[in-house]
Amino acid sequence: MNTDVVNPWASDQAVDIERLHVEFGIERIETVTDLLPEVPDFIKRGIVFGHRDYDQIAHAIRTHEPFHVLTGFMPSGHPHLGHLMVMKEVVWHVQHGGNGYVCIADREAHAVRNLTWEQCRRFGDEYRACLYALGFEGETYEQSTNRTVQDLSFEASAKVNFSELSAIYGFTPDTDIGHAISVLTQVSDILYPQVDSEPAPTIVPVGLDQDPHIRLTRGVAHKLRMFTVEDRNTHISVRSKEAPEEAMEAVHQAFLGSKRYEGHIDIPNVPLEHVKKVVRAIERSHGGYGFVTPSATFHRFMPGLTGGKMSSSVPESLIGFYEDDKTITKKIMAALTGGRMTLQEQKELGGEPDKCPVFLLNLFHMISDDTELAKLRSRCMAGELMCGQCKKETAARVVAFLDEFRERMACAADAIRNEKVSAP
Ligand code: TRP
Repeated sequence: MNTDVVNPWASDQAVDIERLHVEFGIERIETVTDLLPEVPDFIKRGIVFGHRDYDQIAHAIRTHEPFHVLTGFMPSGHPHLGHLMVMKEVVWHVQHGGNGYVCIADREAHAVRNLTWEQCRRFGDEYRACLYALGFEGETYEQSTNRTVQDLSFEASAKVNFSELSAIYGFTPDTDIGHAISVLTQVSDILYPQVDSEPAPTIVPVGLDQDPHIRLTRGVAHKLRMFTVEDRNTHISVRSKEAPEEAMEAVHQAFLGSKRYEGHIDIPNVPLEHVKKVVRAIERSHGGYGFVTPSATFHRFMPGLTGGKMSSSVPESLIGFYEDDKTITKKIMAALTGGRMTLQEQKELGGEPDKCPVFLLNLFHMISDDTELAKLRSRCMAGELMCGQCKKETAARVVAFLDEFRERMACAADAIRNEKVSAP
């Protein structure tokens, strides 16, 4: 694999966030923070660091216009605390007006990680239980049973070639086709809400490793449009990209005073947003999709207890939702920290909380009160709080959180089972 690309399937990789901004064009989250009526913790605490086109989502939240929120989980193992952030982001957007969608990426898990369908189904239900326990509302589906997604991925596949896949993912002639199919499936997951419901801005909260999929999908969404609509200052220009003759004529007819040329129509004195809306509706009524290019937010990963990523393939690195209190406490007590080599040094120099998996566990999920978190950080840096004590307190927080959360998950799991039993 090419090292110049971001590889979404690597279990351990150091992605340089600065490079994502400079080379891949992910915008800094600070450019949109002020547009939100209320700033969530995951932005305030620097967990979500970047975005693509989030302006349109912030606008929809502010003005109560429709938008979708979708993400996906690969059911390659039990869900763990490493998945909690993106779940919270989805739930937050649902609570702020988004239509919720969650995809269980069972085709991807089967193709890329070799899981059986039965394993995918069981793990998928556990992810669902977590989501519902957090207050998710909306649709969840599996890639393997969603015919709309499958048909859409076939349409999308006509717009993507092998060179593009190798440029984005580093695919080589030896890469199996299942891998390519699961990529196209993810493209259509992201566009699915706009087909299932209606074209609208769609926010896809993901970890930074998923940006290749976001870039690919944004390109495909654009290629699948019949028209592009651009503001030319003196007028709005609507360009045809293989739009059928009748659709072109319909756009011309829809705007009094518009001028029709060979491949485009010029429209004076009409606001851009209105033209976009009308053109989108005409596109849809002529068999097109009228996609709004999807948006994304990118969050940092919470480090695993052993320092790298929290990964299903490294059991000591993760905290599972279903693990018992003793195991969890043991893992936290054994965790890597930002502490110094000796107690003496720690007292003199203080710890390094920003590099510490235990501190970051508190920052991501365990301490919601900003003052309490700031106090923990400064006591650590001042050499007042030693790692052993901090770990003990953190373990107690995690155990209390999970005890309560598991009860909610159990209720959700019952509901999921009943849904299945009563389904036709
Ligand atoms: N590829 C994602 C992962 O590895 C899962 C996924 C599938 C996804 N479809 C998606 C993520 C759509 C975001 C949006 O976890």
